[in-house]
Amino acid sequence: MTTPISSALEAPRGAVIVGASAGLGAALAQRLAREGYQLALVARRGEALAALCEQINGTAGRPVARAYAHDVTDTAAVAPLFADILRDLGRLDLVIYNAGLMLPVTLTEFDTEKDHAMLAVNLLGAVAWLNQAALLFQRQGRGQICGISSIAGDRGRVGAPVYGASKAGLNGYLESLRNRLTRQGVNVLTVRPGMVDTEMLKATPRRMFVIPPAQAAEDIWQALRRRKQVVYTSARWRLVGLALRHVPSVIFRRLSF
Ligand SMILES: NC(=O)c1ccc[n+]([C@@H]2O[C@H](COP(=O)([O-])OP(=O)(O)OC[C@H]3O[C@@H](n4cnc5c(N)ncnc54)[C@H](OP(=O)(O)O)[C@@H]3O)[C@@H](O)[C@H]2O)c1
Repeated sequence: MTTPISSALEAPRGAVIVGASAGLGAALAQRLAREGYQLALVARRGEALAALCEQINGTAGRPVARAYAHDVTDTAAVAPLFADILRDLGRLDLVIYNAGLMLPVTLTEFDTEKDHAMLAVNLLGAVAWLNQAALLFQRQGRGQICGISSIAGDRGRVGAPVYGASKAGLNGYLESLRNRLTRQGVNVLTVRPGMVDTEMLKATPRRMFVIPPAQAAEDIWQALRRRKQVVYTSARWRLVGLALRHVPSVIFRRLSF
């Protein structure tokens, strides 16, 4: 299915956030609303999305945010929903894939069901949504794609084999999208958060450099505004990532996180 390109460039900029009902996604919705975007907010929890829309629209004093209940594992539903959103907003300039799932696993656990669930949300859902964004943006010759990855994708840790693999896979996919689409005037931003104070972080026993979701959303907005390719949030995780990537394997495999 192809999505019609809106010629209404005079309409306000439009953005989709997939995984917007809580945490970082909700903070991004609030940040983008302040920049004047029309927003399509997507997640499973329709009530949480409706409450967020009410709050954003109340602050803006006009309807700027709309809710779309959707489970990203239903990849067949993505193309028609994407078309509906484009029709409703009239224009799309930015698609953010933020939906994520990190299930706790012990150091001796190998659970294929859990692993498939994480791959379905973190990687396959991202591919389904961002392929739609890529098709639209390459046809219209403008737009930005943003994927929320993780510091966990920088190295294969003992603590989170498949969560890390899903984010490493997302990094590779986003890099390929960037290399394809840059010549069509489309920017692709990969976001690598360290630790953000959300529901997801509650499953993480060891915490460091934790920042509030609003601060991460601000870092991401500044990176989008500058059309950057990769951003770590907070910035100090860039150095952690650099160090992690250079620790020799013989040492890295002895670490227990
Ligand atoms: N928090 C951190 O420290 C941290 C660090 C590195 C990377 N990240 C990444 O940042 C992103 C946001 O995480 P967060 O910390 O804000 O987590 P969160 O509070 O748990 O929020 C996760 C979001 O993803 C959505 N989601 C999950 N499964 C979904 C599904 N099947 N279909 C549709 N939406 C789904 C949730 O909405 P519903 O439940 O309503 O569907 C929710 O809006 C994730 O990609 C995560 O991997 C977070």
